[in-house]
Amino acid sequence: MQKVVEKPSLQPNPGAGSKSGAAPEELAVRGGPPAVRAPKPASYLHGPQEIGEEEIRAVTAALRRKNLFRFFKDEADSPTAQFEKLFATMTGARHVLAVNSGTSALICGLVGLGVSSGDEVLVPAYTYIATAAAVLAVRAIPVIVEIDGSLGMDPVDAARKITPRTKAMLPVHMRGVPCRMDELMALAQQRSLKVLEDCAQANGGSYHGRALGTLGDAGAFSLQHFKVITAGEGGVVVTHDPVIFQRAACYHDSAYSFWQERHWNIEPFLGENYRMSELNGALALAQLKKRDRILTRLRTIKRRLLETVRDLPRLTLQNVPDPNGDCGLALIFFVETADRARRFAEALQAEGMTAGSIFDKTIPDRHIFYHWDYVMHKRTPDAYGYPWRDPTRPCQVDYSREMCPQTVGWLERAVVLPLTQTMTDAHVEDCAKAIAKVARRL
Ligand SMILES: Cc1ncc(COP(=O)(O)O)c(C=O)c1O
Repeated sequence: MQKVVEKPSLQPNPGAGSKSGAAPEELAVRGGPPAVRAPKPASYLHGPQEIGEEEIRAVTAALRRKNLFRFFKDEADSPTAQFEKLFATMTGARHVLAVNSGTSALICGLVGLGVSSGDEVLVPAYTYIATAAAVLAVRAIPVIVEIDGSLGMDPVDAARKITPRTKAMLPVHMRGVPCRMDELMALAQQRSLKVLEDCAQANGGSYHGRALGTLGDAGAFSLQHFKVITAGEGGVVVTHDPVIFQRAACYHDSAYSFWQERHWNIEPFLGENYRMSELNGALALAQLKKRDRILTRLRTIKRRLLETVRDLPRLTLQNVPDPNGDCGLALIFFVETADRARRFAEALQAEGMTAGSIFDKTIPDRHIFYHWDYVMHKRTPDAYGYPWRDPTRPCQVDYSREMCPQTVGWLERAVVLPLTQTMTDAHVEDCAKAIAKVARRL
């Protein structure tokens, strides 16, 4: 979810410059004329803005077929199966499983990897709370790792946090930017860890030419409302490994092994119900066909803004480990202090742009470990405090709001400009001017 806080008192005031007689280059926040004149996009969402006749036709056709259960029929009659097939082609993954949310994709992915009760799983300090929640859902313990200037998991801190109980790492490609996968994969290999990539926010991203989600042992995607494409709710697990796939598929449906005739490499076990319905499958398939067009436009916009931002004084750009694989969902840069980041974002808003700073202690943003209250306080529904309180395997993992100063340091100095495919060229040009103006004059 792109959370950008706009303070109403700092909204652009088109008359401010003329009233005060301020010079045209004066910042709008100080009474100058706003740099952004071309209208802003009506929404910063991606998938939902694309919902059109194709989606309506696909969902209506699924309703007309009056068979919303995805199994017991030919693949050709199941939009969910068609979605899985196209997703496999587009990612290059050998096995794809559609599920009903990104969280369930993570849960099934972790089960697929064999993560079990009391195992430790490395998660970054900057990710949606669902990443840590999924680890707890399989009765494992999230171990929180610092992020670096890529805003992804820091391989150096990840190495420090490995213990004999660490089973897996869960790097998250936040806001569509690939993590430092070479270093993370090398570490995983050295220390015999499994890797589940959280691609909830990076559908269509890649790393050195390989689709995100296919570099680790498995990948998990979300099709929720705020993502690159949406099925309303939905998720996807991808893997090359048939055993990981079968374990994930088995867990996603309590009777999967009874209605899926296939060669089993595993003894089927307990499952829950994380199935995708055919309505969501139909919507997901229609949206998937639009995904790459959305990304092409986003990347063009980001490249244009980078041309301006690259040379501005007192800014450091987010380290994007593979710029060609970036989804282009946001432009992020760092300034010297938290206070300057807040003032920079406010000045951009006054110029007429949508912008925000990422970390503010007073805003309970669940994308930051600091606000994962039930993790910080070790609360699960288990009456005995499992997985943290296990008499057979005493847990050494503790949490505090002070535990990841490096993460807070990066996030509080970050300024984020969310991008959307419906920004017009004129608006993008105005945004480039506004950023340059604020960087030079603030
Ligand atoms: C990084 C990340 N992981 C996991 C999820 C969970 O996805 P869902 O909301 O579809 O369960 C989200 C979605 O918000 C997310 O942003």
